[in-house]
Amino acid sequence: MRRAGKSAATVLDRLCSMVKPGMSTFEIDEAGGELMSTMGIKSACKGYRSGHRVFPSYTCLSVNEEVVHGIGVKERILKEGDVISVDVCIRENGFIGDNCRTIPVGKVAPEIERLLRVTEESLFLGIEQAVDKNRVGDVSNAVQSHVESAGFAVITNFVGHGVGRSLHEDPQIPNFGKSGTGMKFRKGMAICIEPMVNIKSPQIRMAQDGWTALAVDGLPSAHFEHTILVDNGAAEILTIPDGYEKAEQFFADLLPA
Ligand code: MF3
Ligand code: CO
Repeated sequence: MRRAGKSAATVLDRLCSMVKPGMSTFEIDEAGGELMSTMGIKSACKGYRSGHRVFPSYTCLSVNEEVVHGIGVKERILKEGDVISVDVCIRENGFIGDNCRTIPVGKVAPEIERLLRVTEESLFLGIEQAVDKNRVGDVSNAVQSHVESAGFAVITNFVGHGVGRSLHEDPQIPNFGKSGTGMKFRKGMAICIEPMVNIKSPQIRMAQDGWTALAVDGLPSAHFEHTILVDNGAAEILTIPDGYEKAEQFFADLLPA
């Protein structure tokens, strides 16, 4: 799980650093596929089945009002002021690493910057609650409280999840709920916490392609995710890219004070 997490984070980091206005989401996805093959790992998105549908791209790339599960396409060209969520989930030696970040394309409006910041903060507040003997609802409540006190809306159609040899394992980790409820965490459990946050309405609808979830109000949406390992004390974040000895340094670089 540690190796898979590190690889998933390394791919995510590299893809985020190449995002620029003028690029298509197809190009980013192709780069992701190539990088995975160089690293000797496989996408856990490509070929993912839901009913009779098969997910076609290596990564999920969701622009602006696209909430999650966007497909890399040649027609979607990034422009200054957009945001893009890059969701990378891979399999290595039979284990899954899954992580996501929403990043600005060039300069974005202050309200969108705030959306990204609040969503990532809610992820870290959730991670803080994921400790032995706490319950799933403690994570859910920490995420929801932070998002709603900032005036934003948590999406309830999708949830985080347990993770291991399969991408989606028990328990579900909702981004909304009551403290003290739900399954009890035990040291050694691996979970993905992944708040998805809209600016105004939490309502989503499905795009024509059958995969992409869209914010009904058409406003930008944010999504951040880490794979973590529950411990007695602070959880271990498994999705820290290669080249960072310490998680603290990675986060200091991501979120300048
Ligand atoms: N990180 C996403 C999730 O946990 C990955 C979905 S893969 C897809 O649901 F194929 F469904 F897009
Ligand atoms: Co996930």
